[in-house]
Amino acid sequence: PENVGIIAMEVYFPYNCVNQEKLEEFDGVSKGKYTIGLGQRNMGFCGDREDINSLSLTVVHKLMENNSINPDDIGRLEVGTETLIDKSKSVKSVLMQLFEESGNTNIEGVDTTNACYGGTQALFNAVSWIESSAWDGRLAIVVAADIAVYAAGSARSTGGAGAVAMLVGPGAPLVMERGMRSIHMQHAYDFYKPNMSSEYPVVDGKLSVRCYFHALDQCYSRYTEKGRQLDNKTLFTLEDIDYAMFHTPFCRIVQKSLARLMFHDFLCDPECDSSDGEKYADLAKFRNVKLEETFQDEAKGREIEKASMKCSQKVYDKKTEPSLCISRDVGNMYTPSLYGCLASLLFSESIEDLAGKRLMLFSYGSGLASAMFSFRISDDIGSSSPLHALVTSLKDIPARLESRRQVEPGEFLKTLTTREHTHNKNNYSPTCSEEELFPGTYYLTNVDEKFRRTYQRK
Ligand code: ACO
Repeated sequence: PENVGIIAMEVYFPYNCVNQEKLEEFDGVSKGKYTIGLGQRNMGFCGDREDINSLSLTVVHKLMENNSINPDDIGRLEVGTETLIDKSKSVKSVLMQLFEESGNTNIEGVDTTNACYGGTQALFNAVSWIESSAWDGRLAIVVAADIAVYAAGSARSTGGAGAVAMLVGPGAPLVMERGMRSIHMQHAYDFYKPNMSSEYPVVDGKLSVRCYFHALDQCYSRYTEKGRQLDNKTLFTLEDIDYAMFHTPFCRIVQKSLARLMFHDFLCDPECDSSDGEKYADLAKFRNVKLEETFQDEAKGREIEKASMKCSQKVYDKKTEPSLCISRDVGNMYTPSLYGCLASLLFSESIEDLAGKRLMLFSYGSGLASAMFSFRISDDIGSSSPLHALVTSLKDIPARLESRRQVEPGEFLKTLTTREHTHNKNNYSPTCSEEELFPGTYYLTNVDEKFRRTYQRK
């Protein structure tokens, strides 16, 4: 099969959100910490009516409905998530309810977990299946979904929630570029969830940011090496990429990431001082620095970060900023975060600007697993083209973000407390109102004495 990649996408985020400026005031932190320091505007969150199963049911049902997908045409379905409510039964098995009526039980795939990375592995699995001898000609659906909540403290404002579903197959408008994939995996205790009775992770925030940047360095170094081979050139830099997207725990880290890649480009190009001095003028005095020094010497690291951000501002505005709409307004959705960035780019840019472009994506999941890979966008932009259909289907997202209900921080806190008390409970019926859900949302109606969950669709 040729041109395997993403054919259609669906994005879901919760109806309720809390404003970060109000949260700064409520938490008693300095004004600007969450909004400027982290770059966030609003944060989506779920009440006790929603869990990982309901989010996934909602997004897959919508993907199938909006794209008139025949259930019999699906041969693989996988879920990437770190929101576990069962240590054995997969979310995928719950989603099989959506195929019951059609009688199609012949669907491969189960769940994949490693922090925010599971969705990416699920996507790779789906693409591999289609390119393999096991493929039977049908399409795959990949789901990334999570509810990201933190205990009270400095991490809480970097929560979020949401789900992305992607239809994967041949002849796609977003083609996963063969050969352009690099991986970095390592053991780290930067963020993990050892406490089965709590939704909250144990997190070492500073370490997680360091691990994220280290993984970024490793992936980019390997990715550019592959780019040099594939494009047959001596230098492969941000200029060879049209758009750069990153897993987004908060928007500010993404701007820093793009800046870091530019610093990497600068270090790899000793010739540039004479040939193209202008381009890296802000960085010239760091010519003899090694990338690792940014970790070893904090003051120097900050100085380089500042200079790189200045140097890369224009590139950031053009190649990365358009991908941050959902992240800024919903927060870190965990596994769907990167795919929310992809969707944001597709509805923010014009189809003419997108046509034929190369997208670079960086996926990071604590613990840790990371990858950098690319898509090529089709250059067929006709009104009946698959790209046109994909882009058009995402255009309602800004209006949906706007139409959410903004909740006071006090109510947000109360909702989190409810979730704490009801997490893992049996013999339980949720108390949050069904009113506070978008139409078409699945919601939990009951957990019986044997922990079996039932759902309804609004
Ligand atoms: N105005 C403007 N900026 C401000 C203000 C203010 N009033 N106050 C603080 N800031 C800036 C800080 O200078 C800092 O920016 P800098 O790093 O560029 O200097 C930023 O806001 C954050 O402030 P910190 O004091 O560093 O924040 P804190 O340490 O309290 O928390 C952290 C930040 C560690 C990211 C925390 O939110 C966290 O643990 N989050 C969860 C973990 C996470 O998301 N890790 C990322 C990768 S792993 C993953 O995806 C889960």
